[in-house]
Amino acid sequence: SVLVHFFFLFLFFTCVCRSPLGMSRGQILDEDISASSQWSDSTAAKYGRLDCEEGDGAWCPEIAGEPENINEFLQIDLRSLHFITLVGTQGRHAGGIGNEFAQTYKIKYSRDGSRWISWRNRQGKEVIEGNRNAYDIVLKDLEPPIIARFVRFMPVIDHSMNVCMRVELYGCEWLDGLVSYNSPLGQQMTLNGQYIYFNDSVYDGAMSYSMTEGLGQLTDGMCGLDDFTHSHVYNVWPGYDYVGWTNESFPNGYVEIMFEFDRTRNFTTMKVHCNNMFSQRVKTFQKVVCYFRSESDWEATPISFSPVMDDVNPSARFVTVSLYNHMASAIKCQYYFSDIWMMFSEITFQSGYPTTVPRDLDDSNTRILIGCLVAIIFILVAIIVIILWRQVWQKMLEKVSRRMLDDELTASLSIQSETFTYNNNSPSSVPSEQESSSTYERIFPLGPDYQEPSRLVRKLPEFSQTSEDTGELQKRVQEGVPHYAEADIVNLQGVTGGNTYAVPALTMDLLSGKDVAVEEFPRKLLTFKEKLGEGQFGEVHSCEAEGMQDFMDEDFSFNVIENQTVLVAVKMLRTDANKNARNDFLKEIKIMSRLKDPNIIRLLAVCMSSDPLCMITEYMENGDLNQFLSRHEPEGMIAVLSNAPTVSYSNLHHMATQIASGMKYLSSLNFVHRDLATRNCLVGKNYTIKIADFGMSRNLYSGDYYRIQGRAVLPIRWMSWESILLGKFTTSSDVWAFGVTLWEMLTFCKEQPYSQLSDEQVIENTGEFFRDQRRQIYLPQPPMCPDPVYKLMLSCWHRNTKERPSFQEIHHTLLDCKP
Ligand SMILES: *[C@@H]1O[C@H](CO)[C@@H](O)[C@H](O)[C@H]1NC(C)=O
Ligand SMILES: *[C@@H]1O[C@H](CO)[C@@H](O)[C@H](O)[C@H]1NC(C)=O
Ligand SMILES: *[C@@H]1O[C@H](CO)[C@@H](O)[C@H](O)[C@H]1NC(C)=O
Repeated sequence: SVLVHFFFLFLFFTCVCRSPLGMSRGQILDEDISASSQWSDSTAAKYGRLDCEEGDGAWCPEIAGEPENINEFLQIDLRSLHFITLVGTQGRHAGGIGNEFAQTYKIKYSRDGSRWISWRNRQGKEVIEGNRNAYDIVLKDLEPPIIARFVRFMPVIDHSMNVCMRVELYGCEWLDGLVSYNSPLGQQMTLNGQYIYFNDSVYDGAMSYSMTEGLGQLTDGMCGLDDFTHSHVYNVWPGYDYVGWTNESFPNGYVEIMFEFDRTRNFTTMKVHCNNMFSQRVKTFQKVVCYFRSESDWEATPISFSPVMDDVNPSARFVTVSLYNHMASAIKCQYYFSDIWMMFSEITFQSGYPTTVPRDLDDSNTRILIGCLVAIIFILVAIIVIILWRQVWQKMLEKVSRRMLDDELTASLSIQSETFTYNNNSPSSVPSEQESSSTYERIFPLGPDYQEPSRLVRKLPEFSQTSEDTGELQKRVQEGVPHYAEADIVNLQGVTGGNTYAVPALTMDLLSGKDVAVEEFPRKLLTFKEKLGEGQFGEVHSCEAEGMQDFMDEDFSFNVIENQTVLVAVKMLRTDANKNARNDFLKEIKIMSRLKDPNIIRLLAVCMSSDPLCMITEYMENGDLNQFLSRHEPEGMIAVLSNAPTVSYSNLHHMATQIASGMKYLSSLNFVHRDLATRNCLVGKNYTIKIADFGMSRNLYSGDYYRIQGRAVLPIRWMSWESILLGKFTTSSDVWAFGVTLWEMLTFCKEQPYSQLSDEQVIENTGEFFRDQRRQIYLPQPPMCPDPVYKLMLSCWHRNTKERPSFQEIHHTLLDCKP
């Protein structure tokens, strides 16, 4: 059942209920956006739409009076109740003219338009950290989520700067229709001398003798854990997830909760999520009696239901109560104690409304939808399990794999959505982010600088000198010292939008000193075959080239028969690319033209005489290694049965050794690849491998990259912790990626690394690598992977970059354990 809750939450908060509600796309109409004031007509409320540049580019209030009296707001009317899980804000950029934004803001919301409630996070904080510049979109998870029709964004104004805002709300329609519940206050328990608080900590109604007119923990979409003293939520008191009562205070033997709905509905069921930790005298209710009110009167005959008591399984569970299609706009239920304590964490209602909704949608309701999705996920998980099972063709290995899978699943469940905090030995200058609730804040504690890793990197004195230092550089390279980690890195914006190779400035000078050593190729001899990738500044195609042999020197590893066409990859710069992109393209050509290694894709020729600029590189007949291995099976029973083509372990090993060799070459030149993965390796005849870089925008692999606020795109599943958290890309982080690449190969690319983890969990796992408290999850040993090779992988994922092997060592180790 933990699994169910986990998926429930996971789905609810990460996929199901996070769609933009229509500020940027316009589904929310101008007339539903209003504001306390506007600075001018061109900064009216209707211009406060995220990512839009109409009018003067944002909503800006007219600010008058003393700061403490200012209550400016931008108000959005969603026309019906919505479950809002995320908000996004942005300042006024107006194509570079504007520079106003809200550094902090608060949110107020209302369900009826008259009673306004101030949002607070689970730790009770009202103020939300907003923007730090006028253009970036900052997203904040609302924890707890809001159920409301009206939402107000209230910038915190202190006259130190002007404030303008563009906003978006994310969530889904609130189909339960529940507008409020009234209930007795939650109580306190003393357990082993510790106080456990069962108050409804996020209730947004009035709280005096009882709770009235609000929604809270029972509707926040968060189910409590089996053990009520623990919580999903970080940094809160024990008992947080539950609202609970003891029979001492209820002489009648029941707790009465009244639920009010938005309209008269046809109720099918009520589901109550109860704790059942009977060892602590907590049990599900023994009986429930519900009364219905349709127009203004309570019906005389209630329904009553007694669930089967469970004294065996102490896990928390949903108890489903049938409401027999009663029509009502309010329901009052009396839940009877069956032991000293009764604790609820969620109550949901399944209902339809007559006439307007077609029959088959009667039961449609977010939670049911989630139920279906959970089922689908389970089926998918089952399929994955079956696929894994299929791969295991030896009895001995069967065991290992199952254990691994189990380990990984349990491990993934134990991840909690903790805030990212630094441990004690971290630099004290870095602020702790305990208060922050946004994932992005959590992930990237260094803020906007993240996008430009080079800025973060200290410039070491030995690298501020010029190319005379090559000797020293060479020496250090031979020593395998990853010093270039600290060097000033030149970022090349690859044609496909990602970074191609990152090169230390010094090496760059050395390399680009001479002229480009590649020849012009007549464009008309290229025949387009297929698009391999595309990005912001260009595209990569595979083409056939005629007469290419004249452009290849003798040392080329593949022989071309006279007059035959050759398969090549053509990187093309868009004609409308800006000057920077053009310069980078030229730099890339210079660098590429000097890379000569049998395991690195070679630049063959260029088309520079006219636009679009092209560079022509080798391409290999078997495509990329990822697709290649996905089409193949390991040798063994399954392959025999399914008649699939196979790759032997020794060929796999041979390919891995070549990747190590190519990387050894790159690292000897201080080149940092940044995106080593099977998708970036090409396979030729006889299992030859060449490392390439197709940029990060191939549709086929878009799932391998993580998009931060629509800007940087990162292959997080291949990235070392320091690349993700500190933006440091070094040969040591390439070594990390090599470990992942090796893992991909030994699983025949049948699944993504950490396929059980969502992107955000992968990033949280990165935090665990950083904290190093043995809670980090490593990729498991693939069934066909020999121990020494797995040991090699693990060494690539060492927390300390200096402890990771160099490519030279990796290459050596692989040669040593050749099958
Ligand atoms: C609930 O109890 C905790 C612990 O005493 C307290 O900190 C918190 O303010 C209470 N919340 C409400 C809404 O009463
Ligand atoms: C309530 O819904 C059920 C089907 O879900 C239907 O059979 C019944 O007639 C409905 N009741 C009313 C009063 O509309
Ligand atoms: C509370 O429940 C316990 C266990 O069922 C029972 O022994 C006790 O008498 C009840 N207390 C009250 C005040 O009803």
